[in-house]
Amino acid sequence: MILIRGGRPLRGEVPISGAKNAALPAIFASLLTSEPVRLENVPRLADVETALQLVQALGKRVRWEAGAVVIEQQAPPTASPPAELVGRMRASFLCLGPILARRGQARVPLPGGCAIGARPVDLHLKGLARLGADLRLRERWVEAKAAGLRGGEVYLDYPSVGATEQLLLAGALAEGETVILNPAREPEVEDLGRLLSAMGAEVSWGEKVVRVRGRAELGGARHRVIPDRIEAGTYLLAAAACGGTVRVRGVVPQHLGALLVKLREAALEVERGRDWVEVVVKDRLQALTVETRPHPGFPTDLQPPLVSALTLARGESVVRETVFENRFGHVPELVRLGAEIRRQGQTLLVQGVERLVGTRVAASDLRAGAALVVAGLAAHGCTQVERAWHLRRGYQGLVEKLRGLGAEIWEEADCRE
Ligand code: UD1
Repeated sequence: MILIRGGRPLRGEVPISGAKNAALPAIFASLLTSEPVRLENVPRLADVETALQLVQALGKRVRWEAGAVVIEQQAPPTASPPAELVGRMRASFLCLGPILARRGQARVPLPGGCAIGARPVDLHLKGLARLGADLRLRERWVEAKAAGLRGGEVYLDYPSVGATEQLLLAGALAEGETVILNPAREPEVEDLGRLLSAMGAEVSWGEKVVRVRGRAELGGARHRVIPDRIEAGTYLLAAAACGGTVRVRGVVPQHLGALLVKLREAALEVERGRDWVEVVVKDRLQALTVETRPHPGFPTDLQPPLVSALTLARGESVVRETVFENRFGHVPELVRLGAEIRRQGQTLLVQGVERLVGTRVAASDLRAGAALVVAGLAAHGCTQVERAWHLRRGYQGLVEKLRGLGAEIWEEADCRE
């Protein structure tokens, strides 16, 4: 559990780690080659450990070398990963395309539901079928076969991050060109494209389209994972909630575009340099109207911590979640801290209050947990965040980094640990 004595401003600079959501697909890309893949700037997180355990279970060797992870082993992956590892993390489903492309067959369990909505994988499966895969569903396992994947044109009904990555991974070893219309273009998807290009596939982006020209074999590569824009955004929102001056260092400011515009709209001072962003909070935040959208829209992963900051704004904010149908696990917990939030379908009406008051709350998932930490930092008195292990999936050194900004925060083991 995480304990916070809140109600004081944050001040200082915080270094940002490599992006979890870029590291995970990069780890699965290593399954596409028999040569070593060296990934730098990989964050030490529970989800990264799960992905590394998964590629090891499929036959890879993994070693850490001073902040970089090297993944190697010549033999093609085995056809099926352990169900427990896929069940632990939805992104594990990305091993399907690479296993199928390397072996001509794969058997991977469906990732199943999770705390933030149904999250189906229909777009992954439809796309792989377009590349020539024969797919069957048997008792929640996907059984896939393909004599050889062939490039083709795929249209995504929704620009899903995971489906775009799945098809880029499979397309990189398919014969000819794979064209994905209406792809996701989150910075993490582009980062995967850069890695695949370094491995020998040709990935090129156009207007609402991405093309990958596959190769019969891909080589090894050395790749530096981009900084985590969601981690950076969370610290900026913590400053917005608590007041003070916070600089996030080692970021790509363009990746934070929508957030920075909204923070300015909320009357914060925002400055940016080549690889840093700083927010200065002199006054109470102004209420905002925000809708989550695929990139470059406002990221859904920052919606929960944004709502925390807006609970203290002047006026009523309107926050609409359009990416996931049930990403509101933080809301009842924020209300326990004194927030005034009403939910109408996919929309939250957040009436700003003068102060939050600390109490015991519980994290339902990773970003809901981040929201509770942000709120706890701003709340008067003590906040106890239970089920804080969720935060270890996505925030490297959270407690230490916040202490570096002057927060009074501790971590204590709770029952699960
Ligand atoms: C990724 C991120 C996650 C982020 C999300 C949206 C990783 C590891 N996770 O998740 O942090 O919140 O992008 O930016 O990178 N959908 C379908 N059918 C599909 C696939 C998705 O209907 O086949 C729906 C989902 O249910 C959801 C929406 O599309 O409502 C977005 O999902 P998607 O973009 O695929 O997110 P993930 O890749 O799961």
